[in-house]
Amino acid sequence: MAEGIKRTTVGEVLDLALDLERKTMALYAEIMRCFGDEPELRQFWFGMAKNEAAHCGALMLVGCILRNEPELGLDSRILFDTHTGIRLRSLLTGFRREVRRGVVAERAFEMALDLESSELEDVVVDLLKVVQDPAWRDRAVKMLIHDLGDLSYMIEKHTSNAALLARADGLLERRLGYGHGPAESTPGRGSKPASSRPAAGGGTVGRRGKTARGA
Ligand SMILES: [Fe+2]
Ligand SMILES: [Fe+2]
Repeated sequence: MAEGIKRTTVGEVLDLALDLERKTMALYAEIMRCFGDEPELRQFWFGMAKNEAAHCGALMLVGCILRNEPELGLDSRILFDTHTGIRLRSLLTGFRREVRRGVVAERAFEMALDLESSELEDVVVDLLKVVQDPAWRDRAVKMLIHDLGDLSYMIEKHTSNAALLARADGLLERRLGYGHGPAESTPGRGSKPASSRPAAGGGTVGRRGKTARGA
């Protein structure tokens, strides 16, 4: 077995994911405090933290449902690459230390991109393959996937960093690659200022903002 690949249970992976979602939520809430006099940025980071809170709830719900379906079982053994968790945990620790000293908008966006492109969400989505019912599985995946349309929009609006924007767009594409259409109530980047949108509660976003950007 390759180094870092461990045979572990579905329940253990869910616990790890929950811990990391909670820490990500705390980081985004701390970033929010750095933008006390910038309402739009403050609102954006509040929305990011709120999304992570929703992911925590979704993971707990997944745990409850699996607990009620012994044949899927929280105790089912899967192969898990422990590097994913270790990498994300050390990123979070470093970022929280950095945020306490204060960050500018561009650096904060970069941090979010580093975290959001870690493979944790892929691992959890992969994990949900144990759920046989496609409708239930789709619902769970939608709850767990972060809406990143606002992140792209804010990077475009608050920085002139083309590389960062390209990364955000790439990540948005990857999320759409999960094969689930846009959530009904979550517009894509640039269709409307993020601060005036209701905060998204998970789900994937469309790329309507892409066309709006060139207009
Ligand atoms: Fe999350
Ligand atoms: Fe996230």
